[in-house]
Amino acid sequence: MTFLTIAGTMPAMAVSTSCRHLLGLDGLPVDTMRALFDRAEHWLPIAKGDAPPVDLLRGSIVANVFLEDSTRTRLSFTIAAQRLGAATVDLTGSGSSVSKGESLLDTAMNVAAMGVNAMVVRCTPAGGPMQIADHVTMPVINAGDGAHEHPTQGLLDVFTMKQRFGTIDHLRVAIVGDIASSRVARSNMHALTSVGAHVILVGPPELVPDDLASITDGPGTVEIAHDLDSVLSQVDVIMMLRVQFERHEGKALSPDYRNRFGLTAARADQLPESAIVMHPGPMNRGLEIESDVAHDPVRSVILDQVTHGVAMRMAVLEWVMGDQRGA
Ligand code: NCD
Repeated sequence: MTFLTIAGTMPAMAVSTSCRHLLGLDGLPVDTMRALFDRAEHWLPIAKGDAPPVDLLRGSIVANVFLEDSTRTRLSFTIAAQRLGAATVDLTGSGSSVSKGESLLDTAMNVAAMGVNAMVVRCTPAGGPMQIADHVTMPVINAGDGAHEHPTQGLLDVFTMKQRFGTIDHLRVAIVGDIASSRVARSNMHALTSVGAHVILVGPPELVPDDLASITDGPGTVEIAHDLDSVLSQVDVIMMLRVQFERHEGKALSPDYRNRFGLTAARADQLPESAIVMHPGPMNRGLEIESDVAHDPVRSVILDQVTHGVAMRMAVLEWVMGDQRGA
């Protein structure tokens, strides 16, 4: 399948400008998600470095505007863009005029004025990438905005489940930990419920407020549980989330958090034999997940998530930048 064919067959998202953006998974048509899974699978050998890069986006520049720290997401977008033949430029909060008080929108509009072909944005204010998309004429990809969404992470996570299980529509997925702070959880919930999976949010009430159960996008369902041990035997996937201390505004974590919600080897033994362990990273080892579990050679797909991230970002860049090539 050629690049132009796939771009042409994907349903367009509702966007604020004539170009295509990926701002969130809330409302993204399930056919678009499935097409992105197919394209990520297509790109996987190149993402892994097993096949040579292509020149699909040669002549284009992808700008990474990362005003919050990142290891996986930023590098993954850079590698994905370069494997497709694009050049990349990077802007971070420290070392840019953001540290002099320049606003997110002013920063983005200046990057846009330099004629880049796509902008990947990570920022603390929820809705920042949407605001930028309203003001620029190139595709904008949300790489994580506050606690709102992290759409490429949600896509790569569901793609990872699909690669392991083949089908995703009947999976039972526990997402465990600091859901309140997590844009990863929100994007996963939109994607998983769209494809028909069942999501169980697990954690203490202060980190898993009841209103989160209303985040559903389709035939799938969301349930909340406050007792991890009671759900272990029922799940196909357990996704552990980092406790995001930096978003807790000084509130202390309950001292028994690890005992109640940490994925220890003893707990992993309670999972069905085929169940997989996921974590978007970065991990607080010894808190939400034990090292032995994170490195379990059979169950843990944590590094597969990272590899799949490159393939999925290649698919997303292809999708949002495709129409520019014919222009
Ligand atoms: C996450 C993020 O930044 O939202 N990490 C990631 O992108 N892989 C999760 C986190 O920070 O805990």
